[in-house]
Amino acid sequence: MNVKKDLLNALAEAEGDYISGAALAERIGVSRNAVWKAVKSLQAEGYSIDSVTAKGYRLASDNNRLSAEVISAGITAKTLGGKIIVLDEVDSTNNYAKKLASQGALHGTTVIADRQTGGKGRLGRTFSSPPETGLYMSVIVRPECDAETAAMITTAAAVAAAESVELLCGHRTDIKWVNDLYINGRKICGILTEASMSMETMSMDYAVIGIGINVRSVKDIFDAELLKRASSIEDETGVIPDRNRLCAGIVNRLERVLGELESREFLAEYRRREILTGHTVTATVGNEVITAEAIGIDDNANLIVRTSDGTERHLGSGEANLCRISE
Ligand code: BTN
Repeated sequence: MNVKKDLLNALAEAEGDYISGAALAERIGVSRNAVWKAVKSLQAEGYSIDSVTAKGYRLASDNNRLSAEVISAGITAKTLGGKIIVLDEVDSTNNYAKKLASQGALHGTTVIADRQTGGKGRLGRTFSSPPETGLYMSVIVRPECDAETAAMITTAAAVAAAESVELLCGHRTDIKWVNDLYINGRKICGILTEASMSMETMSMDYAVIGIGINVRSVKDIFDAELLKRASSIEDETGVIPDRNRLCAGIVNRLERVLGELESREFLAEYRRREILTGHTVTATVGNEVITAEAIGIDDNANLIVRTSDGTERHLGSGEANLCRISE
């Protein structure tokens, strides 16, 4: 029996309501004194637990400690999040998850870290991942689908992340093609999906969906250069979502959108949130820089642009590296 784990589970399931020491003791099968000791020990580990006479205990709304138990309690997905691994520090949750996947880790295994020392962004960039600030998570998926459909995973993940952020902070959360989340026109989240092909079957063996969300204020952490491009949920909305709940929400929604990869149903939501459409954009396509009007997203999540001579082009995320709204 692990009293602290059981206690965290019970507190997480209560979703912020108080539970009396007696009720907790009965549920876990220990004495009230053992519950009290476990609370003290968890508080010493950094969990924020309110304790009020005659009411009992609850997980405080400002709790900022990541916990596999608390995340698991929020997971309703059937096929994802069966194994949740929370690390204090890692170079990159994507690297860690890729290693686990190559050793056979199951579909849905999810790795979360409080900080990354080598967080990776797209196009070889770094993703700044300071402690106690963001949600850095990687989900191992093994979808059985063709390569064209598998290429939609990141797009689908952007929808799952945007919906989850919006639900918890109450502010409109946009998607900038192909996979960045924006609030108030500022980037708060990036997604990096890395896939491994099996040479035997010539199909995808696994993909690791890496999602990085700046949750708490980054104003005093990021340098001026980075602050030009990046912000956080707290800085944009004043709301600080609980990282555990955010993580569970994303896993739950990921299950839904991954089930829609073939049908592309999630694209309707993606298009509703996408912010390049309707603007003149500048895109780097190979060695060429083109300026064109973004007119929509096609069924393979390519950006449709119309150049000044009226020609329509469908830009894939692989070929169009940087896409900006022109000044
Ligand atoms: C980007 O903005 O270019 C993508 C950023 C992706 C960052 C996440 S954080 C979790 C996972 N681990 C990594 O090293 N990168 C992704």
